[in-house]
Formats: sequence, structure tokens, C-alpha cells
Amino acid sequence: MKHGLGRVVTTLKDGWTFERGDTPDAASPDFDDSQWANVRVPHDWAISGPFDRENDIDVVAITEDGDTEARPQTGRTGGLPHVGKAWYRLKFDLPEDLSARRVRIEFDGVMSHSKVYCNGVYVDSWPFGYASFAFDLTPHVKPGENTLAVSVDNKPHASRWYPGAGIYRHVRLVTLAPVHVAHWGTCVTTPEIDETSATVKIRTEITCDSTTTVELETTFMDPDGNAVASITDSQDLSADGVFEQQATLASPRLWSIDNPQRYGARSLVKVDGEVVDRYETPFGIRSLLFSPNEGFQLNGARVPLNGVCMHHDLGPLGAAVNRAAIARQLTLLKEMGCNAIRTSHNPPAPELLELSDEVGILIIDEAFDEWRVKKCDNGYHTLFDAWAEKDLRAMIRRDRNHPCVIMWSLGNEVREQHKEEYDGRGVTTFLHDIAHDEDPTRPTTGGFNNPWGAIDNGVAGTVDVPGWNYQPRYYNRHRLRHPEWPVYGSETSSCTSSRGEYYFPVEDEKDPIRDSLHISSYDLSSPGWACCPDVSFAGVDDNPYVLGEFVWTGFDYLGEPTPYNVEWPSRSSYFGIVDLCGIPKSRFYLYQSRWAEKETLHLVPHWTWPEREGETTPVHCYTSWKTVELFVNGVSQGKRSKHFKSMTNRYRLMWSGVTYEPGELKAVAYDDEGNVAKETLIRTAGAPAGIRLEADRDSIAADGDAMAFVTVTVVDDKGNMCPRADNLIRFSVEGPADIAAVGNGDQTSVDPFTVDWRKAFNGKCVVYLRSSPGAAGGQITLQAESDGLAASSVLRIAHGE
Ligand code: GAL
Repeated sequence: MKHGLGRVVTTLKDGWTFERGDTPDAASPDFDDSQWANVRVPHDWAISGPFDRENDIDVVAITEDGDTEARPQTGRTGGLPHVGKAWYRLKFDLPEDLSARRVRIEFDGVMSHSKVYCNGVYVDSWPFGYASFAFDLTPHVKPGENTLAVSVDNKPHASRWYPGAGIYRHVRLVTLAPVHVAHWGTCVTTPEIDETSATVKIRTEITCDSTTTVELETTFMDPDGNAVASITDSQDLSADGVFEQQATLASPRLWSIDNPQRYGARSLVKVDGEVVDRYETPFGIRSLLFSPNEGFQLNGARVPLNGVCMHHDLGPLGAAVNRAAIARQLTLLKEMGCNAIRTSHNPPAPELLELSDEVGILIIDEAFDEWRVKKCDNGYHTLFDAWAEKDLRAMIRRDRNHPCVIMWSLGNEVREQHKEEYDGRGVTTFLHDIAHDEDPTRPTTGGFNNPWGAIDNGVAGTVDVPGWNYQPRYYNRHRLRHPEWPVYGSETSSCTSSRGEYYFPVEDEKDPIRDSLHISSYDLSSPGWACCPDVSFAGVDDNPYVLGEFVWTGFDYLGEPTPYNVEWPSRSSYFGIVDLCGIPKSRFYLYQSRWAEKETLHLVPHWTWPEREGETTPVHCYTSWKTVELFVNGVSQGKRSKHFKSMTNRYRLMWSGVTYEPGELKAVAYDDEGNVAKETLIRTAGAPAGIRLEADRDSIAADGDAMAFVTVTVVDDKGNMCPRADNLIRFSVEGPADIAAVGNGDQTSVDPFTVDWRKAFNGKCVVYLRSSPGAAGGQITLQAESDGLAASSVLRIAHGE
């Protein structure tokens, strides 16, 4: 029924042309764009670089970081060329008979200040780069060929991290019958749930522009796709209308972290007995409780929030959305025992929520990093008065049916928290009321790093569940002032590290500055306001009412290279538990040992230190076991057991007096009866000799978007990882795939991401192998070579369904 009655959704990926700069007449259908680049959307024009110290350099004092005077913040937004104007153009076809069609264009996100034109006519604009939005193209389209043009304008000094550039999320063309379910027009809630039944309510907004009798048949499907209830109502409409329907579902199958089962609502809109629209709303049945005394409860059972904060970029892929890359992030985070994400500090791609529904991750959906008071010259404060309501409503209407979303965060560390004169209470009330108008079922929250200010001026008390940033030592003090508030760490730790780097002597460090521009992975370093993970753990354990924490951050992200904010070429963060290209740092295992139901036994550091023979080289062990014995070349260094009396050995086991000698470092874990439960061993590596390639899957779908992530490891002649290798490796691909990007997690590398070579960083790098669209069935071969390494390696992956 293409373009006939009903809804036809086309994702507009291919056929776009693109040009940087402000090109006059680019909106005109006759404009000659034959010299422009052909691009596929989602597209991030800046990620291919080149990196440059001058890109978006901002001479400013970051007061949150303790700066007292302006300094040139070099890598703050990633050192990539994302500032400036650009145009996108696309030709699309519509059927000859448009008399009974409505045409809509939907954007999941355009960075930023987008203006949309259709057939040379200005349609509308949406400045906030993280918002999803839709425009009605009906008055502007014609049968046959149409021209869409989108201009983008990224301002300098608009962000505290890398924002990305261009049409970086998906775009859809939707054609509809005149009577249809409105954009984001359904809202499903489940107000009563018990073991035997659940009440499900659905509110459906219908778009209608004539006098018609409209029938709405809503069918609820269980997680296996079986229809379990159906309701039909009809109304005489002469304009847009609303249906409220309700059903009772027996023996509800609840959505949870371990068993994320989803129901579906299928809406059939009928006119004169004929179906004119069909719309699907996936939803989940689950209950949420935020208790001041009993923590967070999902379906009546307490669940500690083992969360991380995540910015939106996908490392070497930039901001351009890719479902496989987001899924890989979630897989790694779940493996670590993480069960929650705060989408710092803006609405995420819809794919993140779809996947979180699917795999069972809880989401705090965050709207803003700035309200009216400025953090960045061209930040959100320039838009707040005109756009905050529209942007917040857009986020909530888009996201409210996702069972993964547990709270709406109205803002992060907004400067309104500091002083009475900013009318923080007024602005918070304004946003809080909008959130509850769109969705009364979820609490509002916000991340506050100035609790005294936020409590005194009413900002914290206006949201339902105030979140505390960097307060693990003060939870009790806040609770004493407001025992009726649930307590959680909306942002915690901010430990900094570089994967595979270790420095001596080993000590707690605040803002370490080294010539290497790297930070030790003993996981004791952090900026002044922050702390190592252990202190944040204690904040939760010593205050059992605390809901949990959201660590800053799950993955490294582009920009904000604290503490090397002015030391180019640092251009990406050190905060991640996982590095920028998705390789776990040491810290990953510390979190895993605490959060996951897994047997973790991980040693820090590596054991290849030719220059440290005879030197004291402390060893830490991240483990889920209580007692571990350490051996160097078979000689016991003693047993250590976890205890709660001091921070030493509370969450990690430490041997501070170990003398380094090459050979074997071994940890033996004991169970409570004193039996050997598990062992792990690291060997001193010899010279780099070969390359190991390991893909995270055997086949990738032939759709042009699917990816395999190939970890590349430099090994010695016995297959041991060479933990300090930095060999330059060249890659080549045969078969239906290409290299979308490469990365190595080195925060100081200004080598481009979109090439077919990479230096290993501390022994490893990653190739992002992307399928080509086309017929399935071929084979993809990745080859890796490096001068001086005897072996070249080959990996084969199927190009599958
Ligand atoms: C917080 C802020 C984050 C990030 C972090 C680094 O104060 O909310 O966006 O800047 O500090 O520690």
C-alpha cells in the first residue's frame, strides 16, 4: 500500500549531498550541487578532522573546575572542526496523487540551529541540537520529485564537550492519511499492577482536519506478540481529538533489568470501516518507587542504582548515531554490572532508549546542562526562554513510553543552584510542571554540585528526587536537613586514567600533570572536586538508604580532557571506565568486582617493566573474592582480605611492597572455607612479534550500518600481550565491508579516526568494520600488517542476514 492509505515511513539515509559553509541559493531546487560531497545520514562532518589546537579554542575560566582566571581551553570540545555553517540537500519522490496525503519530516537530531527548506520554501527551524522534532511538509510538497535542504549553524563556544556536527541522527519521511495518530501521539501508563493483573491506560491523540467519525481499535500484545486485550471506541471529530482507553491485563509479565519483556499497543485508526493508520507503541509493565529509607525499588524489589553517566558521542565514530556501536556500549556496561545510565547532559538518540528497553538498563533522561545562567557564551542559555518548554516537551513526549526511563532530569549543575537572585526555584518549578504535565508517572530530578545553595534557594526541593554530584561524604548531612528526600549520587567519582598507563610512586593524586599528558591506571587520581571509586562506594555502603550512584563516566568521550585542559594535544576525556574506542581500563574490573554477579580477579599493573628490576612496584587486585594471595615467580607476597575498617583493602586488595622481577605475577583467590577458588596470571612479555585480531561477532548484517568491532593486540612470540607496544599497524579489507574508523584510546593522539592505519596504544587498538549494503552471503577479510612484526593477521567475518 505504498503511498496509498495508511502510514508509510521511509528512513532517509542515502542520496544526501553536503557542503561546508553558507552557500547562497542552496535551498533552491535548481541549485547545482553536483560538486558537493555525497554523504550517508547519520553524518558527523567534523569527526574526520583534522584535529587542531585552534578548533573552538575558548579562553575562559571554568569556575566549576576551580579556574580563577581565563585560560586557553584547547581540547575542550575535542579539537575537531565542528564550528561553522553547512548545508545538506536531498531529492525525494512522492506519488502522483497527493490529494489525500499528509507529509511529515522527522529529525531525531541535527547539530545545530537547523533550518529546513522544502522545494525552495522555508519550512521551520529547531536550534537545540539534541532535540528530536518533526515538521509538516504537506503545504510544500508536490507530486514527483521534491527537494529538501537543511542548513546547519554550529556556534563557537557553545558546549563543554564535543557536540558533533550536522545531521547526526536519523531522518524519516512519513506519509499519512489525513486522519492519523499524531506525532508521538500515544501515552501508555500502568497505574495499577499486582501479580494477577495490571491496568493499562492509553491516551491517543488523533490528527484530523475534517468532520469524520473516527474509530480507534487498540490491541494490547503480550511479550510473545499474542493479542491479550482489544478495545474499540469511536468519536465524531471535526478537528484533532483524544481517545482515552483502558484495559486490564491478566498475569502481567513485568519489565525488569534481568528480564526486559515488553508489551505492545497496536493502534488501528478507521474511517468508514477502513484502516487509515496503524501505529505501534512498545511499552513495559513495571512499577517504580523512590524511597527515602528503602532506596530505589523496581517492581517492589530493591535495586541498587549501579549507574554511569554517558555523553552521546561514539568515540572514533563521533556523534553519528550507529545502533551497533550503542549496543556494544551497553553490552560492555552490562558485563561490568552497570544497570543504569544518566544521559548526561542532554536527550539521547532514540536508539539508546530502544536498546535499553531491550537489554534492561534504567535511564535517567536528562534535558539540559544550562538554563538561563550562562556556562558557555553560546550555550543553551541563549535559547532557554524561547525553547526550553518546547525542548522539554519534545523529550518527554518522545520518550515517555519507554519502560527503561525512570526519571526526567531537568538539568545538570545549572548555575541557578548557586544564588537566590537567579530565581532558581521559579525556573525549576516551570520545568517541573511541564514534566508532570507530559508525564505525571515519573519523578523529576536534577544533578546538584552545590547542595547548600540548591537546598537554600529551593531548586533541590522543587524536583521530586534531588541528585547530588560529588557528595559521597555528605549524604548524611543532606539527609539530616531533609529526611523526606530520597538520596542518590547523580554524578560520582570522576576518577581519571589512561588505559595501560601506570606511574610510580603509587599515590592518591589530585589533578596530576605529567609530560606524557597521561594519568595512572592505579585508579587513585581525580580532580579536586572528585574522588577515587572506593570513596564513592563507601558513600553508598555507609548510608544504606542511598539509591545508588552514577559514575562520571562509563566511556571516555571527546572533549573535556581534565586535567589537561590547556595542554594540547589532549583532546578527549580521561574519566571513562572504558576508553574512547571501547577497551576497558583497569577500573572496569573494580566496578565489575562490586556490581556484577561474576567471579572477578584482576591484577594491576601489567608485569613488563624492564627498567624497574629490583624496584618497589605495588600490586592491586580488583576481585569479587574476599581473600587473595599474591605470588611473584612462585614466591608468596602474602594474603590480603577485604575488611571494612579502613579504606585500605576495603574494595581493592593492595600489596605495596612488591619488588619487581620479570616472570610471573599470580593471584590466587580463596573461598570462605580457605579452598582455592580461582587463579589469574600475568607474564612478562617479550618483544612485539605478532598481531592478534579478535572480532566481537562472527557475522554482520548486510545493511550498510551493522558493525563488527575488532580488537587488535600486539603480542610477543608466545602470544603474551605486549602492554607497552606502540607499533603502527596498517589494515586492509576485502569483501563487502569498509573501515568506518580506527581508534586506540590514547587521549593525546591527533591521528585521524577515519583512516586504515593506527598505532597501538599500550598494546591495543580497535578497527570499526562496517558492512556494505547489498546481498548477504559474502565473506569479509580483514588483514593487519606492521613493519618489524613478523606475522600479519587475517580475520574472516560473514556478511550475513
Ligand atoms: C561535573 C559536570 C560534568 C563533568 C564533570 C567532570 O561537574 O557535571 O559535566 O564536567 O564534572 O568531573
